[in-house]
Amino acid sequence: MNILILGSGGREHAFTMSLVKSEKVKKIFVAPGNAGTQEIAVNISINPTDFLAVKRAVLENAIEMVVVGPEAPLVDGIHDFFLQDESLKNIPVIGPKKDGAMLEGSKDFSKQFMMRHQIPTAKYQSFTKETLKEGFLFLETLEPPYVLKADGLAAGKGVLILNSLEEAKKELEEMLTNQKFGDASATVVIEEFLKGIELSVFVLTDGKNYKILPSAKDYKRIGEGDQGLNTGGMGAISPVPFATNDFLTKVEEQIVKPTINGLQEEAIDYRGFIFIGLMNVNGNPFVIEYNVRMGDPETEVVLPRIESDLYDLLEGVAHQNLNEKELKISSKTAATVMVVSGGYPESYEKGKEIQGLKGVQDSIVYHAGTTQKDSKTITSGGRVMAFTSLGDSIEEALEKSYQSISKVHFEKMNFRKDIGFDLKKK
Ligand code: AMP
Ligand code: GLY
Repeated sequence: MNILILGSGGREHAFTMSLVKSEKVKKIFVAPGNAGTQEIAVNISINPTDFLAVKRAVLENAIEMVVVGPEAPLVDGIHDFFLQDESLKNIPVIGPKKDGAMLEGSKDFSKQFMMRHQIPTAKYQSFTKETLKEGFLFLETLEPPYVLKADGLAAGKGVLILNSLEEAKKELEEMLTNQKFGDASATVVIEEFLKGIELSVFVLTDGKNYKILPSAKDYKRIGEGDQGLNTGGMGAISPVPFATNDFLTKVEEQIVKPTINGLQEEAIDYRGFIFIGLMNVNGNPFVIEYNVRMGDPETEVVLPRIESDLYDLLEGVAHQNLNEKELKISSKTAATVMVVSGGYPESYEKGKEIQGLKGVQDSIVYHAGTTQKDSKTITSGGRVMAFTSLGDSIEEALEKSYQSISKVHFEKMNFRKDIGFDLKKK
């Protein structure tokens, strides 16, 4: 079995590392991949949203399964493209078709979906430039802070949380009439602010059956104490201590089951991962967002805790017999700390040589923004590498990751020293 993984981040390196362990997997290709995937798989230098290039790679390399890492190819319809092509239609794609990908591709669609299926989420209304005035009136009915969300994909930047009504009105106008986020903000969702603590739950589904994967909490801000600009994610912990059995039962009953049933009722044949961003509000889960893929860096703590054969689970998704597969989860805690280029998430330099990687022993290093040049590993992105460790406690896992990071160096490297600060035993 040859597999193609689309994407180039820590998430994709984690998929590669887990799949390479399966006896059924012969060869793995990653497009475009990074220096980490290159060590254990074959990188193919193509863009995952260039479907014709993906098709060529699949046929040339006798690929029998495609695992889609990021959302863009899914929202663009890569799964539909495969189904419509005679030579590709029997090759399973792990990831939803365009209709299912709308759960991430349109916030307005996902809110309407939650309403139709009574899934707990913040109260909301959607507006366009024609209804700007009504948007102002709706804002006046809410209490601060105000949450404005561009409907479409905006590279993770489309959500604004504003403290004053005046600012909220100004930003709403910017988004709707001045296209602050281009077409993505032609429609804006305004919603009630939920006060609580965030976590994510991941579900793997074959469209009929599902498995709930480990929960995780990520740390999105660049600065310690969750201060400063938003990033793609600076670290993650799994499991999340406050996600008790009681809470997770509520998530399954009130959110996961209605989501899977809702997709079926709407004839959306969804095969892949669902990433449910949740707010725990006084012990009750509310959906903040759906993503139609795994999270990054959450994958780097979720996959190392899955003890079953990942390929076997994905085969269950492809053959719609996920119910027959076993999901075994380690009771250990996983912690990952992301090492980034100085300056990220604003401008940063690339091309810095990474030294000391061979000295890392107690952690898994998942590469993200790295590349191989003249037999050196150099930085090629903002998020460079995720250091994941397993331990009997959050403290132990983090200790190992930080110890491993101390062995590695590149110019202007940066990382948060307080990952898990809010979850540790006081
Ligand atoms: P999203 O892209 O929808 O995940 O939103 C980005 C971030 O904004 C989330 O991770 C939350 O921290 C925050 N957020 C989004 N919606 C709400 C809400 N209704 N109440 C409070 N915080 C929110
Ligand atoms: N870590 C957040 C995401 O993958 O969207």
